[in-house]
Amino acid sequence: MSDPGEEWQVARRRKGAARKSKSLQVPSTCSQEQLDIGKSGTADQLGSTKDGRLCQQCVCYGLGSFSSCVSARFQLAMLLLLLDAGQVPLKDCSVYDPAFSSGEMAVLRELGLTVLTENEEGKCLATKSTLFYLMHCGKALYNNLLWKNWSVQHLPLMRIIGNSFNGLMDRTVDREFKRDYSYITQAVSVCEERQLPCPSRLIDVFSDTAVITFPTSNLKRLPQSTWAEPPEPQYQHCSDLEIIQRETQS
Ligand SMILES: C[S@@+](CC[C@H](N)C(=O)[O-])C[C@H]1O[C@@H](n2cnc3c(N)ncnc32)[C@H](O)[C@@H]1O
Repeated sequence: MSDPGEEWQVARRRKGAARKSKSLQVPSTCSQEQLDIGKSGTADQLGSTKDGRLCQQCVCYGLGSFSSCVSARFQLAMLLLLLDAGQVPLKDCSVYDPAFSSGEMAVLRELGLTVLTENEEGKCLATKSTLFYLMHCGKALYNNLLWKNWSVQHLPLMRIIGNSFNGLMDRTVDREFKRDYSYITQAVSVCEERQLPCPSRLIDVFSDTAVITFPTSNLKRLPQSTWAEPPEPQYQHCSDLEIIQRETQS
C-alpha cells in the first residue's frame, strides 16, 4: 500500500495574504460562539499567565494520521489555533505519533512544529509550564505522563487538553482502572477539570475534551507516601493496551 502522507503537499501562503487569522472560520450551520477560540479571553479561559501566554511549550501526542482522518485534521487545526491564541511559538510545540507517515512529518515540519522521532510512550517530564495536547488518546499515555511528572514540583507545571479523566474512569471497569491506571486514579481526586464545549457536529472530533490542571494546594491532600519512589507503570495485566510501546532491544 502506498503511503497516503506522501501525496500531501504543503500549500504555501500567497504573497500578500494575511499572516494570521485570529478566529477559526466555521460554516454558518455551526456554533460560532463555541468554536471561536481566537477571541480575546480564550487564552484566559484556558488558564493563561498574566502575559497572555498559555504556556512556555507544548507537547502533542496521538494526533493521528491527519492525511486520512478528518478528526485528526480538525484537531491539528485546533492545535495551531491554540498555539496562536496562547502565543506559543510553533517550534516550541513537539508532536509525536507512531502513525505519522513520512509525508505527514514533512508537513508538520513545514508548518514549523518540532517532530519527535522517538517513542517516549508519553513519559515526558515538564521542566517548565507545558501544555500537553492528547486528543482521544489511550489511557496508558495519560498514565505514563502522570507517572513521569508525579511530584508536587512537576504536576502544577502541566496543563492537559485531552480526555476527561472522570470520563475515562466512568467508561472502564472500576477494578481494572484502579489496577492498571493508578496515576489517573489518584489524579482524579486532586486535578481540576474544565469540560470544553463541543458543537454537536464535531462530537467525533472534540467529545469528552477537558482542560486538566493540578493546583498545588490540591496535591497536598494526597498522602506523603504517594510521592516516594512512584513505580513505573508496567501494564502486564492489561489485555488491550491502546498505545504503541517503544520497541525493546533484543
Ligand atoms: C484513538 S487514536 C486518536 C487519533 C486522533 N487523535 C483522533 O481523535 O481521531 C490514538 C492515537 O494515539 C497514537 N499513539 C499510540 N501510541 C502512541 C505513543 N506511544 N505516543 C504517541 N501517540 C501514540 C495512535 O497512533 C493513534 O493515532
